[in-house]
Amino acid sequence: MLIDGHGRKVDYLRISLTERCNFRCQYCMPEKPFSWQPKENLLSFDELFLFVKVAIDGGVTKIRLTGGEPLLREDLDKFIKMIYDYKPDIDLALTTNGFLLPQVALQLKEAGLSRLNISLDSLDESVAHKIAQKAVLPNVLKGIDMALKVGLGVKINMVPLKGINDNEIVDILDFAREKGIKVRFIEYMENHHADKNIEGMHGREILSKIKEKYTIKALGREGASPSFNYLIEENGYEFGLIDPHKHDFCENCNRIRLTAEGFLIPCLYFDEALSISKAVKSGDIAKASEILGEVLKNKPKENRWNDENNGKMHESSTRAFYVTGG
Ligand code: 5AD
Ligand code: SF4
Repeated sequence: MLIDGHGRKVDYLRISLTERCNFRCQYCMPEKPFSWQPKENLLSFDELFLFVKVAIDGGVTKIRLTGGEPLLREDLDKFIKMIYDYKPDIDLALTTNGFLLPQVALQLKEAGLSRLNISLDSLDESVAHKIAQKAVLPNVLKGIDMALKVGLGVKINMVPLKGINDNEIVDILDFAREKGIKVRFIEYMENHHADKNIEGMHGREILSKIKEKYTIKALGREGASPSFNYLIEENGYEFGLIDPHKHDFCENCNRIRLTAEGFLIPCLYFDEALSISKAVKSGDIAKASEILGEVLKNKPKENRWNDENNGKMHESSTRAFYVTGG
């Protein structure tokens, strides 16, 4: 079992497979970064798999593949199958913008993927275009349908932004309910790479939009997840709110992150990270395991980035979400 320095059991690994993306979302990477990591710095699937085995042998039972956009990695289905064959009962999930899903959903399902989180910030083509800076909506909607059709579990993520898509919160909620899938609203997280002009919405503002139409009841957090669940009394639908400006979920945090270049990150809002790149490139399993132990020992107690910063501005993350995978 993997236990961190604060006695928390860590059984969830998130792997960012690439920082690259085919969208340019205003809250994430509005412009193509000045330089990408050269492709040779990326860990290959064989190298990543070596660490995945260390993590699974240590007690990881849930793996999420993220990005950037993970569907941009060639042969992704092969990597999924490697993990699935090693541990068929693993909870194997992927976070995607959905654009390439119509072509690959079936392949991913057949390789052993169980679940997908798909970003959907608007149901209006021009608004979706404005946010992602590309005409994305038809493909994303097709992607959602295809994922459902092939039997993948699907959740939708929406990041509400003031004056851009804040009038669509209830529309997206109703859309998800009609499709029989869960939506989670994510508070915009300040970060240095986002467009300076955008303004996110606080969780309570998101809830008040929903309360204009529905009566809602707070249910509670879903296990170790940062998502807080709510029930709509009128129709029994449950949705989630991810409010990272709180840190009451940190005490149950069960996750660590691995970047595409091999940095092991103990917490989204901390700069400390150790690289497993050299260890896995030389096939040194003992070293990879030792580095994992070190990162776990130093995993911080809670994020540095919360509402109770003595009235100060939220600390803004310097690490890009497209590197850490959210
Ligand atoms: N704030 C909140 N959510 C973000 N995401 C990406 N960048 C940010 C940000 N700055 C979301 C995406 C996707 C998930 C992986 O993270 O919308 O749904
Ligand atoms: Fe790409 Fe996701 Fe970032 Fe949008 S939020 S630019 S889809 S990585």
